[in-house]
Amino acid sequence: MTLHRVARVANVPEDRGLEVQVQGSKILLLRAGEQLRAYQAECPHAGAPLADGAVCNGRLTCPWHKAQFRIEDGGLCEPPALDSLKRYPLEVRDGDIWVGDQPLPDAHTPPSDDSRTFIIIGAGAAGTAAAAALREKGFGGRLLLIDREAEAGYDRTALSKYVIAGEMPLHDVPPLRDEEFYREQRIERLQGEVASLDAPNRTLRLTDGQSLTYDAALLATGGIPTPLTLPGADLPQVFVLRSKVHAQQILDSASAGQRVVIIGDSFIAMESASSLRQLGLNVTVLARHEVPLAKQFGDTVGKAIRARHEANGVVFHTQGNAVQIEGTDKVEAVRLDNSQRLPADLVLVGVGVTPATDAFTGLAKEQDHSLRVDGGMRVADGLWAAGDIATFPLNNQHVRIEHWRLAQQQARIAAANMLGGDEHYLDVPFFWTWHFGKTYDYLGHAEAWDEVEFNGDPDDPPFIGLFGKNGVVSAAVACEMDRAMAMLAERMKQPLRWEEAWRLIRDVP
Ligand SMILES: Cc1cc2nc3c(=O)[nH]c(=O)nc-3n(C[C@H](O)[C@H](O)[C@H](O)COP(=O)(O)OP(=O)(O)OC[C@H]3O[C@@H](n4cnc5c(N)ncnc54)[C@H](O)[C@@H]3O)c2cc1C
Ligand code: FES
Repeated sequence: MTLHRVARVANVPEDRGLEVQVQGSKILLLRAGEQLRAYQAECPHAGAPLADGAVCNGRLTCPWHKAQFRIEDGGLCEPPALDSLKRYPLEVRDGDIWVGDQPLPDAHTPPSDDSRTFIIIGAGAAGTAAAAALREKGFGGRLLLIDREAEAGYDRTALSKYVIAGEMPLHDVPPLRDEEFYREQRIERLQGEVASLDAPNRTLRLTDGQSLTYDAALLATGGIPTPLTLPGADLPQVFVLRSKVHAQQILDSASAGQRVVIIGDSFIAMESASSLRQLGLNVTVLARHEVPLAKQFGDTVGKAIRARHEANGVVFHTQGNAVQIEGTDKVEAVRLDNSQRLPADLVLVGVGVTPATDAFTGLAKEQDHSLRVDGGMRVADGLWAAGDIATFPLNNQHVRIEHWRLAQQQARIAAANMLGGDEHYLDVPFFWTWHFGKTYDYLGHAEAWDEVEFNGDPDDPPFIGLFGKNGVVSAAVACEMDRAMAMLAERMKQPLRWEEAWRLIRDVP
């Protein structure tokens, strides 16, 4: 390993990282108090330039999806990254910074002297994050990850953004962990469908009859797209989108020039509208609301997103409800209750998901079929739940939130507690969504607000908007304001006064 001179100490800013190159590798220099650190410069999640992230409270927040790392040692604090940062050797000589061209060895190998068996059901966002976290936190016993899908967990958020737009082939959808990881970490992946669970006896049964007992289990079965119950809903060109199989079905059927009616104006419906339009289809959204996404983003941003869709040729239809999908062996139109008829070659249903908890008959369920967990994500003795199936306490209410990063955060908390910890969710929910080339970020979970203010124009990004209640920021929405949002992701963990938030946004370098 050779050391290379890369910068002067004085060049490294106080409030952000500095990216340098060593032998073609990008390295990030950061100040850790009086000392300096060198880490990989690209986020281990999806490769964001970490020099564009925010440094605050001893953490580095990724500019894209807000993974967080400890500045002191690069340790992973918050997903969606599932790895810590690789650290490089660094020396300071006469005010010059010298960095090694090879990362320091990662000493992390799981112990194997534990006779317990932990089972995770569902290998999606939450399940895979939990498996990784259990090993990271030192679990040495048998670890079984069960999913009905054959292949390892993957990034399903790419399906509605890039895959059905024809921009990313299905085989390029990133796996959350590669095969080598499962082998090295002794995580046994089992393809199977859980049919029932006997929580008091810590036993579960698969549809093939296999029975498995556990010392601790995590339920992470996610959501099932809510189907249409209309005449014609079983025609072969009526689709939902949750998995790679669904994406393949859509791609097999869709081609440029066809007419698709998207029923619903959920995030997935809207992202799909954008993607199928890009694929060259004529897209009509049969929306429940005049302004889509307004419940989360407010009216101004919802209108801006609708205008963006319309400028790109998406047609919104907001009068009437679907009562029938017409066609004999092929979709011809969507008939509405006001007798209107929307001609269609295919239909995509995006009206939300139902928590996949049918197998868990012995457990108490909420009205929406979710499982209520306590602050530590615990459902019952030896049993935890995370992700889209979990209703959890947040800001003195019980809520269920369908976000990728949150599912993984909950999973990491559950993993710590399965190992005897006492962790609770103390963060700010975050998600992102993508429409015609623009990513919109949202932080918080505001159901009502008495103040909204924007910097920049939502119709012409970049912009950032804050939602406030009683002088405190309850949520933020933005497009192309990555560093400001990364800073807020850390600062909103504590009540953040309105004026202080705007000062921070103004001062972001
Ligand atoms: C197309 C799409 C785009 C999205 N985009 C975004 C986005 O941009 N940003 C964002 O924040 N969120 C996004 N989401 C939401 C996000 O993906 C979910 O909130 C997240 O995946 C929830 O994680 P989970 O682990 O609870 O469920 P999942 O990731 O759905 O994983 C559940 C797993 O459980 C398995 N399973 C279910 N039942 C059983 C059973 N009985 N036995 C065995 N296995 C079972 C399933 O096969 C699945 O692999 C998107 C969702 C979709 C579908
Ligand atoms: S690229 Fe960093 S969190 Fe996604």
